[in-house]
Amino acid sequence: MFYNSIKVNSKGHLVIGGCDAVELAERFGTPLYVIDEDVLRANSRIFYNALKSHNPENEVVYAGKAFLTTAMCKIIQQEGLGLDVVSGGELYTALKAGFPTEKIYFHGNNKSEEELIMALQSGVGRIIIDNWDELELLEILAKKLNKEPAIYIRVTPGIEAHTHRYIMTGQIDSKFGFTISNGEAFKAVKRALTSRSLKFKGLHCHIGSQILESTPYKIAVKIMLELLKEIKDTLGRGVEELDLGGGFGIPYVEDDSYQPVEEMLREILEELEAQVSLLKVKLPKIIVEPGRAIIGNAGITLYKVGGVKEIPGVRKYVFVDGGMSDNIRTALYGARYSAVIANRVYNGRLEKVTVAGKLCESGDVIIWDILLPEVKKGDIIAVLNTGAYGYSMASNYNRLPKPAVILVSKGKAEIIVKRETYEDVIKNDVVPERLEEKFQGREMQAI
Ligand code: LLP
Repeated sequence: MFYNSIKVNSKGHLVIGGCDAVELAERFGTPLYVIDEDVLRANSRIFYNALKSHNPENEVVYAGKAFLTTAMCKIIQQEGLGLDVVSGGELYTALKAGFPTEKIYFHGNNKSEEELIMALQSGVGRIIIDNWDELELLEILAKKLNKEPAIYIRVTPGIEAHTHRYIMTGQIDSKFGFTISNGEAFKAVKRALTSRSLKFKGLHCHIGSQILESTPYKIAVKIMLELLKEIKDTLGRGVEELDLGGGFGIPYVEDDSYQPVEEMLREILEELEAQVSLLKVKLPKIIVEPGRAIIGNAGITLYKVGGVKEIPGVRKYVFVDGGMSDNIRTALYGARYSAVIANRVYNGRLEKVTVAGKLCESGDVIIWDILLPEVKKGDIIAVLNTGAYGYSMASNYNRLPKPAVILVSKGKAEIIVKRETYEDVIKNDVVPERLEEKFQGREMQAI
């Protein structure tokens, strides 16, 4: 699937968004994040069309944690999507980009007072309440600021879905949301409904990430609708909106089994219809919050090979000029990736190598054991499907400046995040004056 979908030009170079990847690496330097705008827009439309054709009231809300910049906000807005933010920083990015505030959904299990005030003052569309302390705090702040925020109650449905598998637990151990099975979720809704300053709009759940099949979502739909019915029957209130969260997976390597997202969404919405008629409740407006499925396969990372180290009979390492500072996922989750040599995609006898970064840690590896044509110093390696949680989880570990992000479309390449400079790396460093004095003192003594 990966190699077939890759475009290669007459020079044997990888092409992305109509641009020669080798030329991009020369022009913008490496490591380099490259985002294909057309893929990102096409992914957005798959979700938008699936949700809106079912019910025009439904919403697709992009989860900014996967990748967020001001340019990204513009694209998401143009595609008619809402935006899920989880921090003051993400909210600030959206506000700076002029994103319509009523389409912003504010998540997080420990939103600070300052962040909640920012959300109230900017008028975000929905605030998702995660716990009792937050419910109380938001109520106090809303009263004080004379606002009436629309809220969801986040619940934990007791399903835990991971890549390739899911489990159901009665009482899920999660820092997020109110548990359904012990009655907390119901109590929270009841409490929210009595509030004069909070407008209860609906329920939210998120069952995991990188989920590659519809089954766990269908179970979530059933559990959520049962709660919705309980609320209606016991409290006499319909729940207008049901947010099913994100988590839609993408294939990273050839053997990732994968259900196309259109099919997943169709099956989830069919289950919704079935449960609605079974339980005789009103069809709620559905919200989904995809992050990875929108941006993941739209991005690649380009690296330059600085050297190769072979340990005979053990392993061949290929050293690239980035690493866990621009992609922590392999080290953190054991994530797997595909890659190609951008300057000769198909050329050469395949050999097994490990693509390692340049950071001072043995675990700093991007890909363990991948088959690539013989890699040489100076080659450009393109790691595929890095659009989600690469840049957004990047750090300055080892004081490496963060790479640039460029947007490509129809042969055009534009910077959307500038490469950090060494000056940027030290820009917040402060040397207390007494240290300067001491240093000078020692120098003086030496003289
Ligand atoms: N909505 C909520 C409430 C979430 O917590 C998340 C992800 C999403 C939506 C979007 O999930 P997505 O569609 O992107 O799977 N850093 C990890 C992923 C953590 C996801 C956390 N929450 C990774 O690199 O795989």
